[in-house]
Amino acid sequence: MQIHNLSKTPSILNTFIAEIRDEIIQKDSMRFRRNIERIGEIIGYELSKSLDFEDKNIETPLGISNTVTHKNDIVLCSILRAGVPLHNGLLNYFDGAENAFISAYRQHKDNPESFEIIVEYLACPSLEGKTLILADPMLATGQSMVTTFEALKPFGTPKEIHLVGVIGAQSGVNYVSEAFGKDTHLWIAAIDDTLNNKGYIIPGLGDAGDLAFGNKLQQ
Ligand code: URA
Repeated sequence: MQIHNLSKTPSILNTFIAEIRDEIIQKDSMRFRRNIERIGEIIGYELSKSLDFEDKNIETPLGISNTVTHKNDIVLCSILRAGVPLHNGLLNYFDGAENAFISAYRQHKDNPESFEIIVEYLACPSLEGKTLILADPMLATGQSMVTTFEALKPFGTPKEIHLVGVIGAQSGVNYVSEAFGKDTHLWIAAIDDTLNNKGYIIPGLGDAGDLAFGNKLQQ
């Protein structure tokens, strides 16, 4: 897998990551959602450089402008619910994309330190020959990304796969890296060292879904 850790090159992206991590600033849920969306826009821009481009002649009111625009048929797939602001950010730039949504959540049984990923809802167009962008803001264990991709398989074989995350744990990145082929790209805004025993990224930012949309009762 080709890993693009975007915070390695300092940019305005680091300011948005700092704000979503900051325990004071992150309490403003509108700002939290907007920062995740802005991160999605920046990742979308970086990812766009690896797409396929074709020549185009654009008629302006005063002449012809020769340019190149991307020619990929993109399907943007996000994992509910934390993925919604990231999805919006990516969709702001890939506004011609088709969209897929999948619900995946952690089901804790008797042991609070172990969980299973349960997929319940899936709406997806054909993926055959298309560019799949699979977005999940927190790449903790990597299990949601891999389980989601398994659930998408009946919808066709994409031409290429781009995984998008905001913060990943190194172990989750390694897990995903082994599960996906070497041609798959991972675009991620930051990679942290570790996970705690509940599967949260450390230092991470907390629960991205709760910060964006409010608390939920644990299942
Ligand atoms: N999901 C989150 O929202 N945060 C984590 O740290 C891990 C998974």
